[in-house]
Amino acid sequence: MDFRIPLFDLNFGVEEEAAVLAALRSKWISMGPNVRELESEFAARLGVDYAIGLTNCTAALHLALKALDVGPGDEVIVPSLSFVATVNAVRYVGADPVFADVKSLEDLSLDPEDVERRITNRTKVILPMHFGGFAADMDPLMSLAQERKLAVVEDAAHAPASKYGDQSLGAIGDIGCFSFFSNKNITCGEGGLLTTDNKELATRVKLLRSHGMTTMSFERAKGHATSYDVLELGYNYRLDDVRGSLILAQLGKLDEDVARRSELRRLYEEGLSGVGEISVPYRNFPHQSSNYIMPVVLREGGSERREGVRRAMAAKGIQTSVHYPAIHRFSIYERFGTALPVTEHIADHELTLPMYAALTGSQVREVCAVLKECV
Ligand SMILES: Cc1ncc(COP(=O)(O)O)c(C=O)c1O
Repeated sequence: MDFRIPLFDLNFGVEEEAAVLAALRSKWISMGPNVRELESEFAARLGVDYAIGLTNCTAALHLALKALDVGPGDEVIVPSLSFVATVNAVRYVGADPVFADVKSLEDLSLDPEDVERRITNRTKVILPMHFGGFAADMDPLMSLAQERKLAVVEDAAHAPASKYGDQSLGAIGDIGCFSFFSNKNITCGEGGLLTTDNKELATRVKLLRSHGMTTMSFERAKGHATSYDVLELGYNYRLDDVRGSLILAQLGKLDEDVARRSELRRLYEEGLSGVGEISVPYRNFPHQSSNYIMPVVLREGGSERREGVRRAMAAKGIQTSVHYPAIHRFSIYERFGTALPVTEHIADHELTLPMYAALTGSQVREVCAVLKECV
């Protein structure tokens, strides 16, 4: 179906075309100087010591848990209101996910009080996800982690350029994980990146990214190294230089993209004010957000009503989505299931409205008017 107002749109132009062309013409297309430049720019933006380019955010989450030595018998506290990759990574290392609820219809990130209730002597990591680019409640989560000697891995897939106070998301916990999947604020189709201030973790992640090998093919091709050893069982999770060039070009547009999205977000908040049947999460949120998506939550009616609203909006040419089906309800995660009343309400009542830099103010007003009518 062709939508008049799609859910998202890529912010690509001549900059991206030129960057990719230059990468192709350089004749070095696997991991090399572009990825290195991306890593140093990303690290500088966030104020972290290390940024490591990877094939995607799922790989970043996997290597984060591997590097922290999480394994069978360990527990990781996760939201169920996320993309399934957040929790799959826990299973990749053989650990058990422990689902905690999110705060409320107004704040869709992990509830620190529920996280605290779910800590056991097997808990090793708290893994908050910054929903839509809006910061999870990091102060209480970090205090809890410090008190109970747990690591924190931030799933910052939605959150490039997002903040918590003056701290960048992805730079607060032990490790941050970012996604450059095709619907994200900045994208290269498939790509990801891991951030940390911890030298030991960074060294381990770099090793695991490339088969556990001590040198890279770029270094060998350039004569900086001639041989390599293999220190542990690693993976091929490298980001390539064509994608690296694309993300570098996108990174140059990120601040402008985020400023435009904040303006659109303000228009949405205005357009949906006083509609009692709808909660607009993160209204007047105090922290800078990437505004990756524009979620709204119906107060009642269940998933059938929500799907009815989505169909009616689609009939008017407006694409919507759902973030997210609850992970603990998926067949493979049922055995880890638990009561998560807020998550379940949101999973059945949330719909996501169009959000991208090229969206116009009048389109936002139209989406608001159609939503009100359909509700
Ligand atoms: C919250 C969250 N975590 C992790 C991922 C996985 O990212 P990737 O597709 O880059 O592996 C996504 C992707 O959409 C996501 O939304």
